[in-house]
Amino acid sequence: MTAKHFILDVNVIVDLWLKERSAPTTIKLLARSTDPDIHFWLTAAALSTLDYVARCAFKRRGLPPEAVTQIVPELIEALLSVVKILSNYGFEQQTVYQRAHDFEAAQMAATARSLAGQPACIVTENQTFDTLGEILAKTPEQALNWLQEKSTPPTAIPFIDLAAQQTLIRPLLERNIETVLRHGQYIMGPEIKQLEERLADYVGVKHCITVSDGTKALLIAMMALDIGIGDEVITTPFTFIATGEMIALLGAKPVFVDIDPRTYNIDPNKIEAAITAKTKAIMPVSLYGQCADFDAINKIAANYNLPVIEDGAQSFGATYKGKQSCGLSTIGSTSFFPSKPLGAYGDGGALFTNDDHLAKVMSEIRLHGQDRRYHHPRIGINGRMDTLQAAILLAKLSLFPQEVAARAEIGANYTRLINQANTNITIVTPYIEAHNTSVYAQYTLQTKNRNALQEKLTKAGIPTAVHYPVPLNKQPALKTNEFALAISESLSEKVISLPMHPYLKNTEQIHIVHAILSSINLSSE
Ligand SMILES: Cc1ncc(COP(=O)(O)O)c(C=O)c1O
Repeated sequence: MTAKHFILDVNVIVDLWLKERSAPTTIKLLARSTDPDIHFWLTAAALSTLDYVARCAFKRRGLPPEAVTQIVPELIEALLSVVKILSNYGFEQQTVYQRAHDFEAAQMAATARSLAGQPACIVTENQTFDTLGEILAKTPEQALNWLQEKSTPPTAIPFIDLAAQQTLIRPLLERNIETVLRHGQYIMGPEIKQLEERLADYVGVKHCITVSDGTKALLIAMMALDIGIGDEVITTPFTFIATGEMIALLGAKPVFVDIDPRTYNIDPNKIEAAITAKTKAIMPVSLYGQCADFDAINKIAANYNLPVIEDGAQSFGATYKGKQSCGLSTIGSTSFFPSKPLGAYGDGGALFTNDDHLAKVMSEIRLHGQDRRYHHPRIGINGRMDTLQAAILLAKLSLFPQEVAARAEIGANYTRLINQANTNITIVTPYIEAHNTSVYAQYTLQTKNRNALQEKLTKAGIPTAVHYPVPLNKQPALKTNEFALAISESLSEKVISLPMHPYLKNTEQIHIVHAILSSINLSSE
């Protein structure tokens, strides 16, 4: 079922408390608040009105003033465990005030509009409700009927649904953003340090340095390791361009090593043959949300005294042998691009290390190489994270552990649904090592008929993506014929990623899997 939103008018709540009119229906309505798809809202402005109106109503009922003073805050507190408060920003209030005949109605309509086009109604006892003609107003009875209506199966499924998450934490997001607007420290504000402490704690390392994005995180990590012209960095060609691009940007050479065909991550057995006197680091990528084999990689690196940088842009939240991604090697690097498992509302990234010296150097490099104001012992860049993004990520972190768990469950469910199709299917589902947990930044299949499948799924309203159609050794900017990269080259023609996010429903997954199976003329029965 798609999410539904109910914005409650004060009169409905007061009637509920006085046990008048539609109180029994409102009880049934609010009983559905535990359903993750049903959301009840109150506008910020309505809260004070509710407090005032309820006090007046109880007094009119003859309740002694002391009882009123006690009961109303208690009732409001109980209500707040069921409804969320949504504020409207100043400019919104000003325009609704100018346009509205009924300010409260306009406030509620503005709240409904701010839910980004999701199905919403205002629940009110007011028969002549004026919403400026934009938003449906329903009595509690009509609202309950609407809630109980069976929703039609989804016609268009988003590849990633950022709205569902936003709904859950909207009040916290607004509060955190508002705090930044109030203190005004948009660059390196207090939220940066708060976030760094929370992230270091989550990963289980001594230091986290937030940065402007995952690409700059890789650049800063390599700058801190003094990687430059003529050096070589061993990495995988089966990744997003940023991994190889940042090596090349520093004048170093990306040395591509082929991947393990089951995990899509760099094959540790092939690393040693690529090490030369010029090798300065190994940079594995934990692709699609699953960590590379760090024990094997770290062992080789230790033998040659090389640092290891994990490009964990897709794996933040994943574990390897019980340890968090980004805490598995000399430096861990990640991205908070909006669609990543932990995504900001813009660009963001972070670096992780247990090495005090590297932490200091990396934090200086992200601030133009300065160790104190206007003193620059080294060359750096402008690589800071915006305070607003840190404030947003702090709000999102409150949901992250449950989202990581949901991702693992949804990934496993896809695999089960696809593999239970009783057929010698031409589709290969993701292989997750027993010692790994994946955050399924992408849920990626292999099929020989990728283009045909993609075309059919697009026609069925199911978006897909290819991560990545061209391995880096074949990209014009990085082209090299130096290595045999047969596995990467072959898999880049077969991989296809399905819609994946922590709020993907079982019904949507079934719909997607049926579409895949019927696209390749197979039945799931
Ligand atoms: C493997 C990998 N590395 C690096 C990056 C770069 O991150 P950002 O987009 O935050 O710069 C990405 C982002 O897609 C990625 O997937």
